[in-house]
Amino acid sequence: MSLQSENVQKLVQRRSTARLGGGQKRIEAQHAKGKKTARERLELLLDPGSFEEYDMFVQHRCTHFGMEKSHPDGDGVVTGCGTIDGRLVYVFAQDFTVSGGSLSKTMSEKICKVQEMALRNGAPCIGLNDSGGARIQEGIDALAGYGEIFERNILSSGVVPQISCIMGPCAGGAVYSPALTDFTLMVRNTSYMFLTGPAVVKSVTGEEVSQEDLGGASVHASKSGVAHFAADTEEEAIGTIKELLSYLPRNNRECAPFRETADPVGRVEDSLNSLIPDNPNKAYDMYAVINAIVDEGKFLEVHKDFAKNIIVGFARMGGQSVGVVANQPAVLAGVLDINASRKAARFVRFCDAFNIPLVTLVDVPGFLPGTQQEYGAIITNGAKLLYAYGEATVPKVTVTLRKGYGGAHIVMSCKQLRGDINYAWPSAQIAVMGADGAVNVLYAKEMKEDPEHAQAIFDEKKKAYEELFSNPYQAAQKGYIDDIIEPRNTRFRVIRALAQLEGKHQEIPAKKHDNLPL
Ligand code: HXC
Repeated sequence: MSLQSENVQKLVQRRSTARLGGGQKRIEAQHAKGKKTARERLELLLDPGSFEEYDMFVQHRCTHFGMEKSHPDGDGVVTGCGTIDGRLVYVFAQDFTVSGGSLSKTMSEKICKVQEMALRNGAPCIGLNDSGGARIQEGIDALAGYGEIFERNILSSGVVPQISCIMGPCAGGAVYSPALTDFTLMVRNTSYMFLTGPAVVKSVTGEEVSQEDLGGASVHASKSGVAHFAADTEEEAIGTIKELLSYLPRNNRECAPFRETADPVGRVEDSLNSLIPDNPNKAYDMYAVINAIVDEGKFLEVHKDFAKNIIVGFARMGGQSVGVVANQPAVLAGVLDINASRKAARFVRFCDAFNIPLVTLVDVPGFLPGTQQEYGAIITNGAKLLYAYGEATVPKVTVTLRKGYGGAHIVMSCKQLRGDINYAWPSAQIAVMGADGAVNVLYAKEMKEDPEHAQAIFDEKKKAYEELFSNPYQAAQKGYIDDIIEPRNTRFRVIRALAQLEGKHQEIPAKKHDNLPL
């Protein structure tokens, strides 16, 4: 055999050993836990044959605790780039079969390299996390590695989309990289995220809790809001990443890809004309409106199980990606509370950072009252949403369906927060508060002094208030809304509004950065 053939053979051999990561036995152990390997996951994620791997031969440099005896090629993470639906993405996938996917200094260098390439070349960066955390044998070097990754997460924020998918353990400070990215997905029953595990929790607080109940996918998707999506399987999680990317631009200098639709722009939806119940206290389902107006009824909901009183997610209207924000009257009457405000504010800011127009559907009775909300800083948290809408310069189209009361009306993308085009349905009621509350405040004294006629006074004043405010005409007369539209025409009107706003250019005053009420 010639020297050159031997060289080639050696390369082929090294590559195939590297591809085995921690070896066949550990791969089988990974499968036995219902988990795929890093390479199997990347195969599912990327277009066939598109993966270009970097740093396959990188090895750790640790010489403590026996680490000097083993130097697996690749060192526990597979990194590179590839395409999804033909569009460039950068990826890293931690390989649990090598030292439990734990983060060494060299692993962090590999991850930082793809983060930097994603930033430089303007493409999304996707991390598939499956790791026991900082590599214990490396001490401070491993911690420094995390710091390097975090810094690049921060510098990339708002420049390229960053997506984290948790497919195994993610504990301790390691959780902060996903938390710094735009979207976190988790897989039910095989992934968990927490700062301190069940054993530490028990020793410090005495509380007994399982891994799943402390930091499983369901907990983070519904209670903490740390996870934006929870999937039943790894395949489903990867499918969601692909779907999500289809709505996003590659970076903040581009617009999201246009997708042709067979759904007619002028499609009228007669059912919307009779959707709002006659009784203003009766609920209806906002999903019916969203599904009726977006292309093909397709809606990718973000934070589906968290703060369900507000709905956020991506759709297309006339082929263009939009971010939909909608109060949900069917949950807590669509009231704004701390979690709903945080959830929507983060979504609005993401859309604004990545040039995705906002379509806001309003039916909000106000902010949730009570000590729990006040002590939890509803003032600061509500201000986040107000701030997010007010600073956003992307096209903003708003439709008030029914209630738009008080501060919540202002917060939900009103005209004064630089809303571009604000429509109302004929059922809209835009006022400081609902009729009952208003009469009780304004006529409390009269009713108390004349208990015999209290009910009659109440009824009369309520009628007068409703005539004046329980409709959209006051707001329309003053130009606070641009038009009152027939509900069935909403799809067409919103798409036409978005088309008008295509060339929108709006600036914010020069500043180092803003001071969002955190
Ligand atoms: C080095 C590690 C490791 C780690 C796991 N391994 N975690 N090696 N450093 N952090 C190794 C194991 O020794 C084992 O090696 C292999 O990975 C698989 O681990 P198992 O324990 O056999 O797997 P499993 O039973 O599934 O348990 C997984 C686990 C557990 C729950 C993740 O390994 C574990 O608790 N690890 C430690 C977690 C931890 O405390 N990490 C530090 C967090 S603090 P062999 O050779 O036997 O296959 C942190 C700070 C970050 O991360 C700070 C950032 C600012």
